[in-house]
Amino acid sequence: MVDDDEDHLFMLRTVIGDWGHSVGTATSGKGALRLASGRKYSLILMDMRMDGDKDGLETLAALKGGDGPNRNTPVVIMTAYSLVEDAVNAIKGGADDYLIKPLDLEVVRHAIDKILSRPAVGEEKAPGAPGRPALVGESRPFLEMMELVARVAPTEATVLVTGESGAGKEMVARLIQGLSGRRSKPYVTINCAALAETLLESTLFGHRRGAFTGAEADRPGVLRSADGGTVFLDEVAETSNGFQVKLLRTLQEGEIQPLGSDRTEKVDVRFIAATNRDLKAEVEAGRFRGDLFHRLNVIPVHVPPLRERPEDIVPLARHFAGEYARKNNRPVRGLDEGALEAVRRHSWPGNIRELQNAMERAVILARGEYVTESDMQLRLVQYGPSPQEAEPGPAGGPRSLADSERQAVREAIVRHSGNKTRAAEELGVTRKTLAAKIRKYGL
Ligand SMILES: Nc1ncnc2c1ncn2[C@@H]1O[C@H](COP(=O)(O)OP(=O)(O)OP(=O)(O)O)[C@@H](O)[C@H]1O
Ligand SMILES: [Mg+2]
Repeated sequence: MVDDDEDHLFMLRTVIGDWGHSVGTATSGKGALRLASGRKYSLILMDMRMDGDKDGLETLAALKGGDGPNRNTPVVIMTAYSLVEDAVNAIKGGADDYLIKPLDLEVVRHAIDKILSRPAVGEEKAPGAPGRPALVGESRPFLEMMELVARVAPTEATVLVTGESGAGKEMVARLIQGLSGRRSKPYVTINCAALAETLLESTLFGHRRGAFTGAEADRPGVLRSADGGTVFLDEVAETSNGFQVKLLRTLQEGEIQPLGSDRTEKVDVRFIAATNRDLKAEVEAGRFRGDLFHRLNVIPVHVPPLRERPEDIVPLARHFAGEYARKNNRPVRGLDEGALEAVRRHSWPGNIRELQNAMERAVILARGEYVTESDMQLRLVQYGPSPQEAEPGPAGGPRSLADSERQAVREAIVRHSGNKTRAAEELGVTRKTLAAKIRKYGL
């Protein structure tokens, strides 16, 4: 067990020791590596953010990358709610699971039991299953959504993902699956709008031979073949009443009835649904069943449109510029000031997809190492208010230095759950300076 908070470490060692495990402890990444080089452990439980020499991520990399006796030992990371990116990074870096601090001991116990009861290392699938997407974003609304995602992902709850077109609903759904206990099980996406009613039903529930014209043989549906896994129902608002009745039954009873069959079968599937409509309004208008809405909406996750999280625009633009430069083999290193200004000003009605497409085009058009405003071609498609009309403030034109500083301070504090020492460290200032800024901005 590795944690630089000695009280926390002591408490955990006592509790986990009581469960019958023998526990070695270290209070730093370096100490952990020293311990790990000496003997093989069956599980490493490690804090992500540690003061001093090495943090959790580096230690994880050193463990997994080395040739020590613990390079295949499962690692479970502990991290704070507000630091879900850490959890995501840890999983990408080869961690097997993560626990959210403050720890719920039942959850800890369950995670430990689950890992220790797995078959011997070597037979299992490589950790960090492919396909878990890396979401870019640092705005407050985005991080809040990610916190919710991290909290609901490991549960069995049905999740309804809402948001405008291109906002990232499908990506969020994949992340939920990727962070869930079902991550190594099937994940099937069904676009409800793309399939006619009978086809949609038979795709999901399966059919018996002769159930309808063209049904020449029995076919298992997705819900049977994805048993134990997750099914993503995209554009769920575009379904018929008849289909909604059947789906409701599956959600309620965990049963399916293949078309043309008089028998029901049990299935074990977790559902994630998405829509870009206001489903509640659809219910009120009589276009969507209220009972199904309530069943789907157990945990609503709203993906905010890009214009409500302008702080994400630049990081996303840089991310896509890098991605498309690599993909298209272009020597582009980023965006120049003019291009950055232009992407900040644009209102992105098509959300992240529009930004992604714009960056792809710009990278391909760019003549130099940096994408310029003219490469962006955004003036031709100015949807938002022009900069002169725009309200000053975060969403509008350039922000003052004080605004930026205030926000940086606030976000660092939030990220570190109010721990000023760590927030100061991240910002590269002393604790005293940070305290002065907090007073100055009345945070
Ligand atoms: N946070 C993010 N970081 C990086 N890329 C993202 C992020 N969110 C979305 N994307 C990318 O933006 C594009 C649009 O996202 P996605 O397909 O998830 O949107 P959607 O809400 O499902 O849209 P629609 O309603 O049109 O189906 C995708 O290519 C996706 O990879
Ligand atoms: Mg989608």
